[in-house]
Amino acid sequence: MKKFITENKSFTITVIDHAKDGKPLHCRNGHEIGDTYTCEYGCPMPTNGCGGFCSKTMTNLYRLKEIVYANGDLRILGFPNNHDIEFFCPDGAVKFRMQIHDLAGIHPLTAEHLPQYAEVIRRSFATVAKDFGLTRENCPDHTSFVTDERLASKVKDGYFPFGLCVGETIFGFASLTDMSDGVFEMNDVSVLPEWRHYGYGKKMIDFCKEKVKELGGSKITIGIVDENAVLKDWYAANGFVHKETKNFDGLPFTVGFMEWSAI
Ligand SMILES: CC(C)(COP(=O)(O)OP(=O)(O)OC[C@H]1O[C@@H](n2cnc3c(N)ncnc32)[C@H](O)[C@@H]1OP(=O)(O)O)[C@@H](O)C(=O)NCCC(=O)NCCS
Repeated sequence: MKKFITENKSFTITVIDHAKDGKPLHCRNGHEIGDTYTCEYGCPMPTNGCGGFCSKTMTNLYRLKEIVYANGDLRILGFPNNHDIEFFCPDGAVKFRMQIHDLAGIHPLTAEHLPQYAEVIRRSFATVAKDFGLTRENCPDHTSFVTDERLASKVKDGYFPFGLCVGETIFGFASLTDMSDGVFEMNDVSVLPEWRHYGYGKKMIDFCKEKVKELGGSKITIGIVDENAVLKDWYAANGFVHKETKNFDGLPFTVGFMEWSAI
């Protein structure tokens, strides 16, 4: 097997009971309290020499894992939360606890990460270029064509690049630039296409809002392709208010300016 994707979730499944109505039951598969399994996208592997899951339990387990991977809400099925749940095997003989770990975290980046985050930005904005017909010829300054050198020129005091990472792999990006008087510009908000629609974009924005407050700021400004109605609505749903539009020489689209205020 040669895995080509960095997984963003992992699961720990532990046997916590094998009794029904207070009477101890013995699972045909031999599960005992404390047996623990871990997995990412694939099958759960035992961590303490225990056996495996029966196919009936696997059908339950995979259904739950698929809900997690689809960013669904386990609470709809009656579970109390989306990260630590308990469920029985279909025979009601064994009770499991499943802990769901999100391996993605947001971290400050440095110049040494620049080649990797530059690629994340270019690949992310390539879908915008495609959607709006932007090419090197009609819009050479579009973010999808940004060079490492241009990104390097932004690195100075008051510039804060952040990466959405699993381990050393960066798959999302956002930067804040201190514009003084408590105002921060948020730029290059990116999530690689294969990682979209899992809430990571919102996670990046929420992180930036908290970071701005932590840095003593109170306002975030952004500039977007104003014709991008989906993006505009998304920022509005995330608390950004549309302020104005401007046209710039060399940009074949209108730039819309939006703002979020902490107060
Ligand atoms: C905007 C972006 C960061 C959102 O990332 P994400 O991880 O998918 O964000 P979330 O999961 O929190 O939210 C998803 C929502 O974003 C909105 N959205 C905004 N731009 C989008 C785009 N280009 N493609 C798809 N959805 C987009 C949709 O409303 C989507 O809702 P849906 O999942 O119900 O379809 C990502 O689409 C991206 O990198 N786009 C290209 C670069 C860009 O336009 N950045 C913003 C520049 S100001």
